[in-house]
Amino acid sequence: MPLCAEGQIARPGDFLPLSVGGWSVVAVRDGEGTVRVLRNACRHQNMPVVGTAPGTCQSFRCRFHGWTYDLQGRFLSAPPPVAPADASPGANDLHALPVRILDGLVFFAVDQVSTGFFAPDLGQPYSGTIVTDIACNWKVCVEHLLGGQGVSGPEFAWFWPLMVVRRSGPLVLVEQVVPHTFLRTRLFTHVFGGAVEAQKLSATATKEACERIQLERAGGTPPQGGALLAQFHRALDEAYSGSS
Ligand code: FES
Repeated sequence: MPLCAEGQIARPGDFLPLSVGGWSVVAVRDGEGTVRVLRNACRHQNMPVVGTAPGTCQSFRCRFHGWTYDLQGRFLSAPPPVAPADASPGANDLHALPVRILDGLVFFAVDQVSTGFFAPDLGQPYSGTIVTDIACNWKVCVEHLLGGQGVSGPEFAWFWPLMVVRRSGPLVLVEQVVPHTFLRTRLFTHVFGGAVEAQKLSATATKEACERIQLERAGGTPPQGGALLAQFHRALDEAYSGSS
């Protein structure tokens, strides 16, 4: 699953917590510069170690009872009253998940890392990311991004289920949909090869359009669009029926 742009955690200690597909995880760049993805679940009582805001730190300290972990997720210490029963090395580390970085984007898996699922060579330097919170269901956001598109091609490509890549000359926009709650979605617009500022109006327009479509759905208006939209709904039907 896509998690973030590598440039969002550019410096050692930078971290970015997210809930993706129901998984609470944190992407972090460790002291050696390696990107890691950790389950954001304390090994003491499974509470979230990191809150919701990104930041920079030298170690993680769980807010609940003070267990601490290094940037690789290794257990460091705990206050004596809540010290772990098993203090053997590795027994209390945060769970590290498989990570793959492709074209400046960070992906993680909850099991094995797939290969070949993300094909485009973005071919441009990372410029920055626009974060847009939208009051809509994640499927409405994908519907809007797919809009009247026919098929994936060089200028517009969709990667089931949560990512769209658009190209216009040297500019490449990677739209990453992050489902949060039933009616709350975060959209990362990762900009490669162009000015971030110039894309902000477009991100605002996407927010307005998605929130309008969400109201239309609530009013009973069915989705309308091109072949990619139909493909999306077929894939959803299969996913929710458990047949894929
Ligand atoms: S749940 Fe994290 S220290 Fe207790």
